[in-house]
Parts: sequence; C-alpha cells; structure tokens
Amino acid sequence: MTDAIDYARYDRIRPIRWTGEALELLDQRRLPFAVEYLACRSSDEVAEAIRALAVRGAPAIGISAAWGVVLAAREVEAADAAEAARLLEPAMQRLNAARPTAVNLAWALARMRAALVRAQAGEGMDWRAALEAEARAIESEDLAANRAMGTLGASLIAPGSGVLTHCNTGSLATAGFGTALGVIRAGVAEGRIDRVFAGETRPWQQGARLTAWELLQDGIPATLIADSAAAHLMKTGAVQWVVVGADRICANGDTANKIGTYQLAIAARHHGARFMVVAPSSTVDMDTASGDLIEIEERDPAELFGIGGTRVVAEGVAAWNPVFDVTPAALIDAIVTEKGVVERPDAEAMRAMFGP
Ligand code: MRU
Repeated sequence: MTDAIDYARYDRIRPIRWTGEALELLDQRRLPFAVEYLACRSSDEVAEAIRALAVRGAPAIGISAAWGVVLAAREVEAADAAEAARLLEPAMQRLNAARPTAVNLAWALARMRAALVRAQAGEGMDWRAALEAEARAIESEDLAANRAMGTLGASLIAPGSGVLTHCNTGSLATAGFGTALGVIRAGVAEGRIDRVFAGETRPWQQGARLTAWELLQDGIPATLIADSAAAHLMKTGAVQWVVVGADRICANGDTANKIGTYQLAIAARHHGARFMVVAPSSTVDMDTASGDLIEIEERDPAELFGIGGTRVVAEGVAAWNPVFDVTPAALIDAIVTEKGVVERPDAEAMRAMFGP
C-alpha cells in the first residue's frame, strides 16, 4: 500500500539541511510563527542547539549530532583516522551530553566512531569524507525507516479509526515524514484514520506548536486537545489507537517518551483503546534491561512558569519538570520499527526482533 502515499504531499518539511559549510536547523523554538533556519558552523553550536531544543525529537538529535561530528572534523588536524578519533572524542562527548534520555544521540555517535575505525582499516576513503558519508547515511536511512514504519504501523489500524498522538514525532523530529506521525500520515492516506487528535504537550507545547502545524501543512484535519482532556476523550469512544514515538526502548520493551505518555497508556488500557509505539531501531537500546535504568531528563522548572513568554505563576512557587516518562511494556500493544512489529512486547519478543 506504500504506493498510495503521496510523499510530495506528506513529506515536505526538512528540519535538517547540510549545506556543505554549515548545518542548518529549522529552529523549532520559533514555530509555528516563524520558519527560520539556524546555521551551526561548529560542533559546539550543534550541541547547544540540541540542548536548547532548536532541534528536538530523538532521531533528529541523533542526525544533528552526526553532522556535528562532521563540523568538528574541520576543527582538527590529524594524520590518520585513528588520530582523528582521539582528537574528536571531546567534541563527541559534548554532543552526547547535550540531552540524556534519547539513545539515538549515543547511537549516532557510535556509528561515527565506527566509520573512523573502518577508515583507519583502509577502506580507501579519506576520514573526513568517511564521516560525511556516514552522517548522510544516518539521515537517509532514518527517512527510509520512517516511510517503512508508516506503512507497517498503518496496517494495524482498522478503517474508520480515531487516533490520539502526543508530542511531535513528525518530519520535524526526524529526517522527514516522522515516526508516529508517519503512521498517522500513512493511515490517513490509506483511508484508515478518520479522526486525529493531538495533545498540546505541556510545558513545551510540541503538540500544539509543532504537530498541529505539521498536520495543517499536509491538509490533514486534526483536533488539538489539552493534555488533561485525553482520558475524557477516550471515554467518548473516539480513539481506537494512541500512537506515540519513543526516545529509548529497553530490552524488555519498556519505553521512554515525552512526559505524559505513561498516563495516556494507562487511560488507553482502561478505555479499551490500543497503544502503539513507533520508532526506528536506532531508538532500541538492548543494553538497557528495563525502564528503571533510563536517565530521565529534568529541565529548568522555569519552563512551567510561563505560557508564550508570559509568566502565569506567582513568584516563589516551586516546580518539578521531568520531560520524559517510562511506559511499561505491559501497557504497549505494538512496537513498530522498520525491522518489523513487536506485538505485546516483552524481553523475549524484543530479543527475537533485535538480537541477543
Ligand atoms: O523533548 P523532545 O521534544 O525532544 O521530545 C520528543 C519526544 O518525546 C518524541 O516523542 C520522541 O523523541 C520521538 S520523535 C520521533
């Protein structure tokens, strides 16, 4: 059914552009009211853009970090790939430290290190060219994975369904097309999805500012809800699937994603709606046994104090701002990756799909 998807309509936004001189990132802090690219010319500028959420979403920060290594390569002089690997390590560590929860960041950096090892082993390519080729491959493989997942995930959704999504998992969060939003795009294109709901995703408003904007660009009718309206919406029977992305999927299927995902999974189970996680295999971390071991990023409580730059909370109020949570595997009906679908995930089913 892939042929049914008109990618010219459903896959137009590109958050990451490599110009040959700079990494241009569609500045997601300014959307939806300004579509502006931020030019990063050093690896530290890329690390700062990741930390400050100019670029965000697990796959997108992995891809950006890979290009950050290409920029770092311009800052060092090395006789060979082995020396380059040693000299680039501090910049890679700074990129890796930009955000802790999404494993895609460490995964992309591991691929860049492996590219240097292969270059040193004499694959006949200049090490800088090898790094650039690897960053390009990471980006294009992500796009291909998203398109494959779109079709796989949509096939689980019965015609006439309603879906609820959380945060932003679209083109903006990936190389293009998106993960959970890719499934929604494919499901709409294939006539399976009749109703799309997007939670606003406090406090950073990825749903309200980014997902709603992406769906508008595609001409996909969608309804924005307050995060706190989700259980009430499910009670009406309007939602058959909750479809979300992931920042890290553990060896037992436990899944870290944007704060609020866990409560959606609980509400879905209570109301008989099904729960789908959509993520490329670069988000699967078979080295982390369970969700309890995932570092959950906590951001500045000040993110909770205002809306659109206007302070709405009295001075002196304390706040806690964890920005991810972990949904236990037992609440997940399907994990969709480009390698295939893991239904009712647990350690055994994950091992069967992703190896030892
Ligand atoms: O803090 P963010 O905006 O980077 O969080 C993003 C999410 O939680 C997404 O759901 C996840 O990264 C998957 S994006 C395809």
